[in-house]
Amino acid sequence: MLRVGSLRLASQVMLAPMCGICDLPYLRIVRRFDQQSLAFHEMFSALGLLQTKKSLPFTVPVALRPLGIQLLGHAPDPLAHAALLAAEAGADVVDLNLGCPVPKIAKNYDGSALLRDSKLLERILRALYRALAGRVPITIKMRLGWDDKQRNYLEVAKLAEACGVSMVTVHGRTRSQLYSGTADWGAIAEISAALAIPVIGNGDIRDPETAARKLRDSGCSGVMIGRAAQGNPWLLARIAHYFEKGEILPEPTDNERLTMAIEHCQMLVSEKGEQIGVAESRKHVAWYTRGLPESAEVRARVNQAKTAAELQQVLETYRERLLAAPWLRMAPSDE
Ligand SMILES: Cc1cc2nc3c(=O)[nH]c(=O)nc-3n(C[C@H](O)[C@H](O)[C@H](O)COP(=O)(O)O)c2cc1C
Repeated sequence: MLRVGSLRLASQVMLAPMCGICDLPYLRIVRRFDQQSLAFHEMFSALGLLQTKKSLPFTVPVALRPLGIQLLGHAPDPLAHAALLAAEAGADVVDLNLGCPVPKIAKNYDGSALLRDSKLLERILRALYRALAGRVPITIKMRLGWDDKQRNYLEVAKLAEACGVSMVTVHGRTRSQLYSGTADWGAIAEISAALAIPVIGNGDIRDPETAARKLRDSGCSGVMIGRAAQGNPWLLARIAHYFEKGEILPEPTDNERLTMAIEHCQMLVSEKGEQIGVAESRKHVAWYTRGLPESAEVRARVNQAKTAAELQQVLETYRERLLAAPWLRMAPSDE
């Protein structure tokens, strides 16, 4: 049992917030396989929420819980107001983004830029704490610091704990590393040892065995999975199952991957309309078909498809071809 403030979680695995990926269709798919792990919706800009919508665009469906809502911003009052909107919409935790390294965002003083301003960070965290008044736990997701010279992760994590934050997730890279190099799990372990609240380790976990090793070696309370879950909505459940039972569940078959890709595309089209749905489907198809035979050719066709019907046709034909000719699987893949 993992306690995050008033929230009780049965799983030590979490789905990372990922912009352009963790939308409602993807979260619904993940929940088919895993109903216990805390999952994060893609982030919302606090100012964006307040200026345009004045509410979250949805009420959190019970079937998607436990769900965290992450906020991006740097102004204490709008962040506090947006946190209330997230709580009203049914978020199980409200998370502050302290990791986004994208220059446009950091230049605006949001995301990882807050790692460099502990005074402002303290004002934000105290405003969030006052606004939520214990209704919903506040969490942060941070990087190790701005760059190699400013790895102030212990200071930031301790400040968060002192301000009433209930959980700290750490992506073990600095802002200037972006996604290069490897995540520093030694630093994550240091944070875990220094705090009394749960620390969740994040970075470069791709399979259940690595997840278990990182969890054990770092002393963290849980692990968070990002990129490896792209096109792989089975992964969270497979890791949680390994933690619980010590057993590796089989990987999805080619047929399961393609069937899911087709359904995911249909969900995106019905949720977002044909034009956006087809465009957004492309990257998901690329992930679902990673490592499959002739997948480069399929991706090229998918990228040319203009309508949902064309997209579906390409994928159905490919699935049939793979099923009818299993020996293709023996040939080297395109990756
Ligand atoms: C496409 C993409 C979008 C992301 N969006 C967010 C985000 O909105 N908020 C956030 O805190 N981290 C975001 N991240 C970072 C991930 O949550 C995670 O910290 C990072 O990918 C490292 O974990 P991994 O090695 O398991 O992928 C994003 C990462 C990717 C690849």
